[in-house]
Amino acid sequence: MENFTFYNPTKLIFGTGQLGVLPQEMEKYGKNVLLVYGGGSIKKSGLYTEVVDVLHKAGATITELSGVEPNPRLTTVKKGVQLCRENSIDFILAVGGGSVIDCTKAIAAGAKYSGDVWDIVLRKHIATEAIPFGTVLTLAATGSEMNSGSVITNWETQEKYGWGSPVTFPQFSILDPKNTFTVPLDHTVYGIVDMMSHVLEQYFHQPTNAPLQDRMCESVLLTVMEAAPKLLEDLESYEHRETILYNGTIALNGMLQMGYRGDWATHGIEHAVSAIYDIPHAGGLAILFPNWMMHALDENVERFKQLAVRVFGVQDTGTEDREVALEGIRRLREFWTSLGAPTRLADYTIDDTHIEKMAEHVMSRGPVGNFKSLSYEDVKAILIASL
Ligand code: NZQ
Ligand code: ZN
Repeated sequence: MENFTFYNPTKLIFGTGQLGVLPQEMEKYGKNVLLVYGGGSIKKSGLYTEVVDVLHKAGATITELSGVEPNPRLTTVKKGVQLCRENSIDFILAVGGGSVIDCTKAIAAGAKYSGDVWDIVLRKHIATEAIPFGTVLTLAATGSEMNSGSVITNWETQEKYGWGSPVTFPQFSILDPKNTFTVPLDHTVYGIVDMMSHVLEQYFHQPTNAPLQDRMCESVLLTVMEAAPKLLEDLESYEHRETILYNGTIALNGMLQMGYRGDWATHGIEHAVSAIYDIPHAGGLAILFPNWMMHALDENVERFKQLAVRVFGVQDTGTEDREVALEGIRRLREFWTSLGAPTRLADYTIDDTHIEKMAEHVMSRGPVGNFKSLSYEDVKAILIASL
């Protein structure tokens, strides 16, 4: 293993009825609260009323920022920063999915920075301070509830980048599986694809001694693959929502990626696609990941073979290693298709018009991919194979 330090200060509060702990968790941060949420799902589900009641009982003064977009935009982050300054906000509460939480992280750091918040996203300025914030998660997918990462889109320049800092971990996150009951079928599928992709990004690392990490990754994949079809049959199953919710957090809270660096090229490519076409993040991943795998296969066939045998149940009966590995990739694609995930960029009516622009954006922040380092031409080839 490479040397590592594991740091994750987020307090995870999991289970039914846990919203009640909000007042005591917020107590030490002050009463001026910015409540951040998305396009209205929390109003429909009734969660908004519950949260506002709890906040009022806690004596909070509430300022609201609503309408955070899926693939949250810089313009909305800037609105939030302004609201924080105008209202002397002490604490931010994000109620929603990864987009609401990511937007909140950028607001929290941006409000403490006198320059342009886009500098923080571009990593020209490293955030050293942030307004404390907590989250009430409503969608199992990104892991943003227990990591310090945030992904923001600049719609004017059609760029979407991830960033993070030690000061942008949530102070706490409340995860009640019931708050995910209303996630529609398509976003439930995207969430499943996203968390599996996070594990796969980490699974593909350069040879290093990480047998426990491998087994942990494989366990998450197997658990998600067992629960996912059952959940899609019954979207209000507490048991399966609970399983998927917990897996989503574990998949990207740093627990799996100790002692090595994951690949993460596919995420970089997807962000470039959704920056231009505004598609759901994991819709893009479902299309791109198998094509990245085909492109990276010969980097280390053994690793793909291990995934095929241990996770996708491919028999290792003396067949060529490459054949076993390829069958694993085929089964991953087949699994995602069986859930209803898209398979081609054409499913989103995306053609080759902006391939070069997307590849340029992917390469704009330096080398891409740790398992396989991709060139501009590699990125283009993966995008073209995904059309
Ligand atoms: O906006 P509302 O009305 O709340 O509706 C949302 C949105 O339309 C809806 N939704 C959320 N919870 C719901 C619900 N609908 C009904 N019932 C509920 N309980 O779902 C839609 C999608 O929400 P969004 O937050 O965009 O989804 P997700 O959690 O998948 O977040 C996607 C964003 O996270 C970024 C992605 O790039 C994308 O911008 N990522 C963030 C990461 C991180 N911070 O670590 C890592 C990821 O790899 C990813 O890149
Ligand atoms: Zn993701």
